[in-house]
Amino acid sequence: MKRSKISIIGAGNVGATCAHLLALKELGDIVLVDINEGIPQGKALDMAESTPVEAVDARITGTNGYEETKDSDIVVITAGVPRKPGMSRDDLLKINSNIVKDVSEKVKEHCPGAILIVVSNPLDAMVYVASQVSGFPKERVIGMAGVLDSTRFAHFIASELNVSAENVSAMVLGGHGDQMIPLARYANVAGIPLSHFLDEKRIEEIVQRARDGGAEIVGLLKTGSAYYAPGSSVVQMVEAIVKDKKRILPCAAYLDGEYGESGVFIGVPAKLGKSGMEEVIEIDLNDSEKEAFKKNVAHVRSLMEKIEL
Ligand code: NAI
Ligand code: 2OP
Repeated sequence: MKRSKISIIGAGNVGATCAHLLALKELGDIVLVDINEGIPQGKALDMAESTPVEAVDARITGTNGYEETKDSDIVVITAGVPRKPGMSRDDLLKINSNIVKDVSEKVKEHCPGAILIVVSNPLDAMVYVASQVSGFPKERVIGMAGVLDSTRFAHFIASELNVSAENVSAMVLGGHGDQMIPLARYANVAGIPLSHFLDEKRIEEIVQRARDGGAEIVGLLKTGSAYYAPGSSVVQMVEAIVKDKKRILPCAAYLDGEYGESGVFIGVPAKLGKSGMEEVIEIDLNDSEKEAFKKNVAHVRSLMEKIEL
């Protein structure tokens, strides 16, 4: 069977974590690209040297150019600047939109058939940039944030209840910002609604901690933002695509009338398979969830308006 080719642009914390996990899971051959000379080459070689001891097969290449990415099946864009304490993701808009624009132009040239997974922040606006610049169809441009926000939400629930993380199913909807919408109403533990285990006040506290999950890590690390859970989240999306799993995951997907919105990328449940984002799943929202979703969309649109392409 032909191996998938997965390129990761940005060999920093998130990019390198993704690359290593992809190799450990044997999801394909990996190309790591960065503007920093020596960094992608050194990290790729280091990872390749771990493959015999891990007993996995993956070709891992590091480079400062795009020739090696030619005809990748999937390209993950993690290039950009992470936030520091006191900064919001939106503060990265100008600098990261220039980076994502530059990267997307090169990806379009070298990997015209690839599925793009965008990670750089502010996420929903950066997916829009990648989509506009690449011109790729909506199935092939997806943003990663919902899986991360949801795994944080699930972790806090599992740890509160002292149950296996595997038992928790929890989803976060909306933009990857302070107003994201953890859907407590749909969360369950082994199929049992969360409200069976926790009262409303405690659920709201956990919801808020999930919303603040990224900032909590930034506050602790001080020099950058999270990368282990983000890396795992990207890899879950890549796996769904490479293995054509038709897995439903929360992703920043293009809305074309779904949820009453059009022309915007935002976090919704979507089916991922070999064609990329194969279907947006519309779920019932109550009035307050609908209102919160509308506010999220308005916020993402306000960021999109500030971007000069
Ligand atoms: P990092 O600083 O460790 O790595 C970023 C890398 O991008 C650096 O190695 C840098 O040299 C490289 N880079 C910058 N400009 C480039 C260009 N034009 N071409 C190629 N490479 C370039 O940052 P980290 O922690 O890996 O985060 C990366 C981005 O992902 C940040 O914007 C961060 O906010 C975002 N992020 C988003 C998440 C999400 O849920 N969507 C989760 C975690 C991070
Ligand atoms: C996070 O939520 C940095 O957006 C990233 O950790």
